[in-house]
Amino acid sequence: MKNELILILDFGGQYNQLIARRVRECNVYSEVVPYNISLEKIKEKNPKGIIFTGGPSSVYGKDAPRCAEGLFDLGIPVLGICYGMQLMTYLLGGKVAKAEKREYGTTDVSIDNNSLLFQGFEKQNGFLMSHTDFVEKVPEGFKNIGSTLSCPNAAMENTKKKLYGIQFHPEVNNSVNGTQVIKNFLFNICGCTGDWIISSFVEESIAKLKEKIGDKKALCALSGGVDSSVAAVLLSKAIGKNLTCIFVDHGLLRKNEGDEVENIFRNQFDINLIRVNAKDRFLSKLAGVTDPERKRKIIGEEFIRVFEEEAKKIGTVDFLVQGTIYPDVIESGLGKSSVIKSHHNVGGLPDYVDFKEIVEPLRDLFKDEVRQTGLELGIPENLVFRQPFPGPGLAIRIIGDITDDKLTILKEADSIFREEITNAGLHKSINQYFAVLTNLKSVGVMGDERTYDYTIALRAVETTDFMTGVWSKIPYSVLEKVSSRIVNEVKHVNRVVYDITSKPPATIEWE
Ligand code: XMP
Repeated sequence: MKNELILILDFGGQYNQLIARRVRECNVYSEVVPYNISLEKIKEKNPKGIIFTGGPSSVYGKDAPRCAEGLFDLGIPVLGICYGMQLMTYLLGGKVAKAEKREYGTTDVSIDNNSLLFQGFEKQNGFLMSHTDFVEKVPEGFKNIGSTLSCPNAAMENTKKKLYGIQFHPEVNNSVNGTQVIKNFLFNICGCTGDWIISSFVEESIAKLKEKIGDKKALCALSGGVDSSVAAVLLSKAIGKNLTCIFVDHGLLRKNEGDEVENIFRNQFDINLIRVNAKDRFLSKLAGVTDPERKRKIIGEEFIRVFEEEAKKIGTVDFLVQGTIYPDVIESGLGKSSVIKSHHNVGGLPDYVDFKEIVEPLRDLFKDEVRQTGLELGIPENLVFRQPFPGPGLAIRIIGDITDDKLTILKEADSIFREEITNAGLHKSINQYFAVLTNLKSVGVMGDERTYDYTIALRAVETTDFMTGVWSKIPYSVLEKVSSRIVNEVKHVNRVVYDITSKPPATIEWE
């Protein structure tokens, strides 16, 4: 079955992924494509509707991005957001002008709630405006359906051609009920029914994987992270024991984590799992190394070596499974905005394993959809909602050189911190929290004894994208309990400090 599709033409705005996610939250499948996608490609994809994103350009700029000519004549409904609205105006003969000053922030927009786009809305609504250019005159055949004090045409429609423009950003949380505007576009204007549901995605992908792989062999590197776990379980449902997972345990995971991962995959899902306990190997390579970047490099390289050795024992496999997800694909430069980084999962095939083809079953999913898929597949909640954990693991949370003793100290302290955060019910609101073993020793007193021991730092941040974040205002009573438990229960720690720096200027990790 082919799902209803909304195409999102990427004009370089910062909220493009968010628009795609909002559409999917309304149970309609969406894809982000470059702004200049050809008419043939569009027709081939046969979307129910098209959304133009915002973008930093001005329509009069020399290299202003434009959609393919004739797009507005395809009879497909279009919603232009911000730059998208201005472009629609410009291409259809209206007038775009430059305002004297930028309008920014949640702004009262007066709207015509008779429009299908604004059905169910009050006449005044707070929406996020962020623009300098604005539509001075709507094109022929269009009607004004919204304005603000400084923007005469904040929304417009041509109902006959099903073309709509809005100057504000419905996709961000600052726009009250913004998602409802998107919903109205999808259901009232494009005629979508909302057929994108995770349970059918799971069913369909298992069927597709079965067909593609048949009785050939696939190999998957399992880290215990959400993406690789969900990819592995999906594959195993499709091809059973023809899937082999290799779990390289570098010994730098959190307390009990290696065993938990093994237990879930071996016992709950009966997956063909090879666990390689390589802690000694990693620790000996890391001995005496203090530079964070060197630690990362050594771990990355050693990881490949171990994986390669194990894979060689299996011999040639037909498919290598990768947990690439949709944001990786978008960020790798599909659209215009997005040549930010070239993600290692996309395009670059590892040359150290003998395989014929790559399979990426989560390539079309956003992170929250990967999580829903995981739940649908029966993966336990604590794994599905696991906080991010860096590949190099605890190695970058031990400042200075890494030893087995230090690892033990950190694992214990970190486990106490995580346990108390969960006990206090804070584990869902704090996005990442962990302990760091600093290389600072200080004087303390325990009973009548003088001590000279380590300092543990606690780190907890609230963030949506992990690019920026604020330190979490954990109640003093919780911090007090954590601190007292750590110094009482963890040998060689006599001081606990709490990191009250946001990102920027600090990073989330200490190394
Ligand atoms: P920073 O410390 O840069 O971290 O603010 C942002 C997010 O990235 C994670 N992180 C890593 N993840 N390998 C990873 O897989 C790494 O080397 C690495 N360094 C940081 C960090 O945990 C946070 O979620």
